[in-house]
Amino acid sequence: MHRAVLAVVAIAIASAATVIAPRAQTSDGPAYTADGRLNFPAGYRTWVFLSSGLDMSYSPFALPGRHSFTNVFVNPGAYESFQKTGTWPDKTTLILEVRRGETSGSINKNGQFQTDIVQTEVHLKDEARGGWAFYGFRDQTTPATMTARTADCYACHQANGAVDTTFVQFYPTLLPLAREKKTLSTGYLAGEAKK
Ligand code: HEC
Repeated sequence: MHRAVLAVVAIAIASAATVIAPRAQTSDGPAYTADGRLNFPAGYRTWVFLSSGLDMSYSPFALPGRHSFTNVFVNPGAYESFQKTGTWPDKTTLILEVRRGETSGSINKNGQFQTDIVQTEVHLKDEARGGWAFYGFRDQTTPATMTARTADCYACHQANGAVDTTFVQFYPTLLPLAREKKTLSTGYLAGEAKK
């Protein structure tokens, strides 16, 4: 048989398997392309909202005089699991949606409201692919390649994230749970003790 024919057969089998076999994980888990890129999680706006940061200073996107919001969402299956355990299960998908802030518009005179998306980033825990990984999306349609594990994303999240490399200290519905379930990282607790 030709290689091309084999490939077609393999794809046919693979897609049949996807249809037949239900996902072992939550139905809101990640989907990858055949070459291992992450498909954009299109439904994230109906997921659980964790918080909005305004002009947080770590942001590499903040330009002088420009304001930005960082909206964080998580897939409902992972949120539900966090309620019980205080930490994240496999296939947790966290989204950071960066939006421009604006003052002038309609009747507004003061403060900031949100407008266009600047960038969308994903922090995804997938044990089958080596654990937590970051993906940056330029737009919300093109699949993204994994950000290399040498990138500063990993170092900062590892050193400063309060729960399992995520910034639960800034997600007000989750921080009390993590405290109660004693899942806060030793690094975060040491920093708190110094204050
Ligand atoms: C200097 C520290 C730092 C660096 C570097 C950093 N982040 Fe973060 N990240 C944060 C903080 C702080 C938050 C909480 C944001 C909020 O509350 O709005 C966050 C939140 C996130 C989230 C939401 C989920 C979570 O893990 O809490 C994603 C996704 C994310 N960052 C992606 C990235 C990516 C991709 C990079 C690298 C290109 C990166 N970050 C680099 C500090 C950092």
